Amino acid sequence: MIKIMKKTFGKDDYKYDFSFVPKKDMKEFLKRAKKNWKDAIKKSKINEYFKDYILNEKVRGRLAEFMKKELKIDKKSEVLDIGSGMGALTIALARRFKTVGTDVNPSTLEFIKHRAEQEKINLALFHISPLHKGLPFKKESFDVVLMNGVLEWVAFKIEGDVKKIQEKVLKNIFRILKKNGIFILAIENRLALDWFKGKTSHIPIKYVDLLPRKIADFVCKIKRGKKFRTYIYSKFGYEKMLKKVGFGDVEFYEAYPNYQKPKWIKKTNNLFANSFIIVCKKI
Ligand SMILES: C[S@@+](CC[C@H](N)C(=O)[O-])C[C@H]1O[C@@H](n2cnc3c(N)ncnc32)[C@H](O)[C@@H]1O
Repeated sequence: MIKIMKKTFGKDDYKYDFSFVPKKDMKEFLKRAKKNWKDAIKKSKINEYFKDYILNEKVRGRLAEFMKKELKIDKKSEVLDIGSGMGALTIALARRFKTVGTDVNPSTLEFIKHRAEQEKINLALFHISPLHKGLPFKKESFDVVLMNGVLEWVAFKIEGDVKKIQEKVLKNIFRILKKNGIFILAIENRLALDWFKGKTSHIPIKYVDLLPRKIADFVCKIKRGKKFRTYIYSKFGYEKMLKKVGFGDVEFYEAYPNYQKPKWIKKTNNLFANSFIIVCKKI
């Protein structure tokens, strides 16, 4: 039986309720998932795109396969997945490596627990505090740390300088990585061609990622009553930020059409790719 371990810093006043299942339906959903996780997804009101996001492990697990085949990460490696969400990628990682899944949301962790138990997959699960408070692991604990679609959210619900908060989170990741450990960051590109065409990333306001931050703040304040908080960066921006924190050997891969459901992942110099998988090292 898998136990969800609670490793939070003090009492959490922070609620991040990301989940495809509305809060009011969560209890019933988890009751069903305890019996049959797939059935719970199929019978839920989650839309088809997101059902596939959870069920389609071939696509959702592509990054895990890439880590094994391209990055040659050993199966004995200890891999930390920060912000596991509904866990499709976490499960794919756990089939290949010694995996630890984490999230601020205990409900989605419970879903992963039911799924892993039913599929007889071994992994450890931790309920953690929001990342701006720190990471509850000792220094040099992991061979690999992965963040898939999470760094952009770490300052969303709190006050303070977004970039500094993101850098603080990255510093903590650096701390818990072993020497020569690998950090993998899957995230959107600020200069994605899609944003120029009017598609949106995290906030449904056209072109907002492309605007200078101060103007983006102004537009968001008017349209949503709150400043722009989901910073993503260009290829140069990510490289600069990761190097500042101490990482080296920074390499960029493009996940096409995006990192959530990649058809392929290839090394890239494309400044306008939609998403990057960034691989760097604690050297
Ligand atoms: C877009 S989901 C990505 C989930 C998963 N990595 C995946 O690729 O399917 C973002 C995840 O980050 C977590 N998250 C968001 N803000 C966070 C914060 N400030 N601290 C810790 N986790 C956070 C959410 O609970 C959620 O599970």
